[in-house]
Amino acid sequence: MDNVPMLDLKATFREIKDEVIKTLTEVLESGRYVLGPKVKEFEKRVAEFYNVKFAVGVASGTDALHLALSAAGIKEGDEVITTPFTFFATVETILYRGALPKFVDIDPETFNIDPYQLEKVITPKTKAILPVHIFGMPADMEEIMKIADRHGLLVIEDCAQAFGAEIKGKKVGSFGLAGTFSFYPSKNLGGFGDGGMVITDSEEIAEKVRSLRNHCSKEGYFHKCIGHNSRLDEIQAAFLLIKMRKIKEYNEKRRQRALFYTTQLKEYVKCPKEKEGYYHVYHQYTIRTPLRDRILKALHKEGISAVVYYPLAIHLQEAIRYLGYKKGDFPEAEKACDEVVSLPIYPELSVETQEQICEVIKRVVQ
Ligand SMILES: Cc1ncc(COP(=O)(O)O)c(C=O)c1O
Repeated sequence: MDNVPMLDLKATFREIKDEVIKTLTEVLESGRYVLGPKVKEFEKRVAEFYNVKFAVGVASGTDALHLALSAAGIKEGDEVITTPFTFFATVETILYRGALPKFVDIDPETFNIDPYQLEKVITPKTKAILPVHIFGMPADMEEIMKIADRHGLLVIEDCAQAFGAEIKGKKVGSFGLAGTFSFYPSKNLGGFGDGGMVITDSEEIAEKVRSLRNHCSKEGYFHKCIGHNSRLDEIQAAFLLIKMRKIKEYNEKRRQRALFYTTQLKEYVKCPKEKEGYYHVYHQYTIRTPLRDRILKALHKEGISAVVYYPLAIHLQEAIRYLGYKKGDFPEAEKACDEVVSLPIYPELSVETQEQICEVIKRVVQ
């Protein structure tokens, strides 16, 4: 079989090529390349889509988290509760603030932070909860918000993998104080480079992020605090505006492909399950099985991409060994790392290719 990628960015580009070239020319001819009208328009569209008051474009999903935590006042000595089963950036940004990440194990059904274990790690130093909607599956925001309200904690949602995901019609990212997004090319709403966004209903948070992204300088060379260079550029915003128009279609197509996999594979491996009222956007379609390594090998042998997100839980990463966590601390996250594999999923993925992928998996399991 020809090589099957995890996602086919070139196919997405080909479909919108004319519009992309047109907008590229328009931006280049405008002479305005950073934080201009396209960024403003994109921010407006995202805020409308999310039904929130403010959206502020930044340079990456990592920066979106970092600046949101900073704007929320997270500082040295604070504790922020998050999941050990995520991309490293989630935890890096807590550490950038000088705060301490406190982990809570995941619900093995959803791979998301288990809200029923959350309260036991809350201390007088806890300031915020940082749930991640991993693989595009909403974390249990209803339960998380109840706990946060009970304890007076802030909630910042890492929606890097979940653009458009919902719980009972409400989009994730709009439950907490702020939601953060990544527009890295592989994301459901991906640019042709890096980009990120913070959404919020709080004018104060929006203003602070707006200031922080540009050296805390509103105008001229007067700086009110120590900020960053985290500006979103016009070309990315213009490209993202084009893709934004199709985001519902892209997510629906991912969901159709996910349903196909589940129908084919549910007797063979553990497939992702959507809770009632949840709208999963399948940034990844992640199965779990004790035969993971054999499946991975068989797929690769056939030229089919498949990736382990994530092979090592965050608390066991070398970079944070100094925090003193050890194997066995978060058994569900660790077990997931041994059993998960993500299969190719993207709007252009054909039924024939999906059938071939499923055949390889069935052959290994039978
Ligand atoms: C859960 C999660 N958080 C944060 C990020 C960081 O986003 P970016 O790569 O745009 O900095 C990512 C990106 O992979 C992610 O998956």
